[in-house]
Amino acid sequence: MSRIHEALKKAEQERAANQGGAQLDPTPVAAVDSPVMPEMASHRVPDPVAVAAMMPAFASPFSVDTMLARCAHMEWKPDLGTMLFMNGDDSKRGTEEFRTLRSRLYHMREKMTLKKLLVTSALPKEGKSFTSSNLAQVLVRQHGRRVLLIDADLRGPRLHLMLGTTAGPGLSDYLQGKSDEFAIMQRGPMENLFFVPSGTGIEDPAELVGNGKLKVLLQRVEPLFDWIIIDSPPAIPVSDASVLAKACDGVLMVVRSNSTPSDVARKAREEFPDQALVGVVLNGTSDEAAPYARYYYEAYEKRQTTTV
Ligand SMILES: Nc1ncnc2c1ncn2[C@@H]1O[C@H](COP(=O)(O)OP(=O)(O)OP(=O)(O)O)[C@@H](O)[C@H]1O
Ligand SMILES: [Mg+2]
Repeated sequence: MSRIHEALKKAEQERAANQGGAQLDPTPVAAVDSPVMPEMASHRVPDPVAVAAMMPAFASPFSVDTMLARCAHMEWKPDLGTMLFMNGDDSKRGTEEFRTLRSRLYHMREKMTLKKLLVTSALPKEGKSFTSSNLAQVLVRQHGRRVLLIDADLRGPRLHLMLGTTAGPGLSDYLQGKSDEFAIMQRGPMENLFFVPSGTGIEDPAELVGNGKLKVLLQRVEPLFDWIIIDSPPAIPVSDASVLAKACDGVLMVVRSNSTPSDVARKAREEFPDQALVGVVLNGTSDEAAPYARYYYEAYEKRQTTTV
């Protein structure tokens, strides 16, 4: 029996016992990680997409909590200089901009399916990890919102350092088939914020992100979260980000103020021809330069731009 099935079944039994009602038959969920024999295909649910789509029917808040209770509780020691929402002071410089970014994303969400969001940029050190981690934090600041932050930058993982936690087990362990989804998710001091670090023993990042298992992971965990924020490597030097984007609903592009050349930013956008660019974050603006910078990039992209 799959571990998800086990957890769901237990939760449903508890729920039924509490309500004195009949127990739901969770059989289809057994297909989540059970091999599907051809002759049994009509009795099982072989497609992880279909399974993921069915999960919310079983996943009452109680059962989701039951499943997520299996994730490791870790003692994070975040870098309070850059993790803007982790010291209890929500008025630090930059916090307001992240709240603006949050409301713009909710605005976009009214027009399109938007849960799995890839954060990328053209070049290294433009603020992808800074943006993805603070965005995840501001999203869980809203009551009841559950967020999963994934470090999919297998070439230069940094999120675990920013959050002050361990790098593994993590994404690479899942992609290599060494760990299941609950073994790689951890939670720290912030309620409802879950984190998948990069993982350990990463030898061939391109092969790992392209082996198809990331999509399966996202399909499995998607019903458990309101948002899934994925940090990625820079888009121009390597192709990982464009591969990752195919498993996501949209792309958020970070541009470094006074640093990223506009033709390079434009080229990075071309790496995602089929993906929805949901916005541009202009990172590292000075207070004086922000309005002009915003004007410049809106003219360039005609998308929602947020300055940080
Ligand atoms: N707006 C900001 N305010 C303060 N510090 C910032 C800001 N943006 C980025 N930083 C800091 O700059 C450094 C580089 O940022 P970050 O790691 O987010 O870039 P990156 O694009 O993810 O880099 P890489 O391509 O190497 O993954 C980090 O130390 C980060 O904390
Ligand atoms: Mg980074």
